[in-house]
Amino acid sequence: MADANTDGRPETVTDRADGGTAPGGTAPDGAALKEAGLRLEVAGAVATVTLDRPERRNAMTFATWRGLAAIGRSLPADVRVVVLRGAGPSFSAGIDLGMFSGEGGGGGFTDGSDAAGTDRFIAELQEGYTWLRRPEIVTVAAVHGHAIGAGFQLALACDIRVVADDARFCMKEPALGLVPDLTGTKPLVEIVGIGRALELCLTARTVHAEEAARIGLAEISVPRDGLDGAVQDLVTALLAVNPGAAVATKRLLWGAPGNSLDEQCAAERREQIGRLREVFGR
Ligand code: CAA
Repeated sequence: MADANTDGRPETVTDRADGGTAPGGTAPDGAALKEAGLRLEVAGAVATVTLDRPERRNAMTFATWRGLAAIGRSLPADVRVVVLRGAGPSFSAGIDLGMFSGEGGGGGFTDGSDAAGTDRFIAELQEGYTWLRRPEIVTVAAVHGHAIGAGFQLALACDIRVVADDARFCMKEPALGLVPDLTGTKPLVEIVGIGRALELCLTARTVHAEEAARIGLAEISVPRDGLDGAVQDLVTALLAVNPGAAVATKRLLWGAPGNSLDEQCAAERREQIGRLREVFGR
């Protein structure tokens, strides 16, 4: 795999081969990725984003979330699958706790007294997560070790979670007096239901891999030494599907929870017309 930015050349995505709507943007250079604690490797249709501060258990800073957003804005147009993984013993220990005291970089924490400014600020950080839902890509979280707080939410932001048997999820925010605000509450409720989501968040207890698989937090669960192989097999299978059908189907499936049956039926017809034109049109 080649580092996407080894030559320091910014890549810009303005047009996607499948007609999708990647917003375009300049890829973060090597220095920006390093400051963000991230590594990006692009090999053809597969991008791998590695949370890369193992000595801090991949704790994340504002720079990390801005870096993730920049990666999302600048993905090469032919990338179809994005894998998120963690270097070292854990996926991610969540927010860098040093930021609460201003030691973790990024200029310290806001006290929320400027509500409008804080709203804009958090919205900007959430952009590091929301791009993972774009229909043009399928996103896979490869989780081993701890996935705490913001790390748990990052796994939830992905389409599919593959977990090693040492994976441990914890929504720590309420225990720190905060709420999960990095897009995690909606997928958590959709996956495990409101009762289980309340129980997990309000006790901030740890969910081990076996339970995660049982309650739907993980689609695939494997021994620790089988994680990379399982992700590779999944990626291969995802890439084997017709690209246009994959985009349309992801759009359809993610739209389903917000639609009535009639609306969803109409969406199926609309997407199928597009597919029929693509597959059988002259
Ligand atoms: N922030 C900053 N540093 C962290 C960190 C974090 N979140 N998590 C771990 N580290 C550092 C440790 O301080 C330690 O540094 P030193 O070597 O300098 O002592 C190093 O990483 C290794 O950590 P441990 O020795 O604790 O490693 P471990 O493997 O025994 O334990 C762990 C791993 C269970 C993740 C444990 O480190 C831990 O509980 N970390 C804190 C987790 C946490 O509370 N995160 C915040 C969640 S809330 C959130 O993310 C969202 C929000 O908005 C509030």
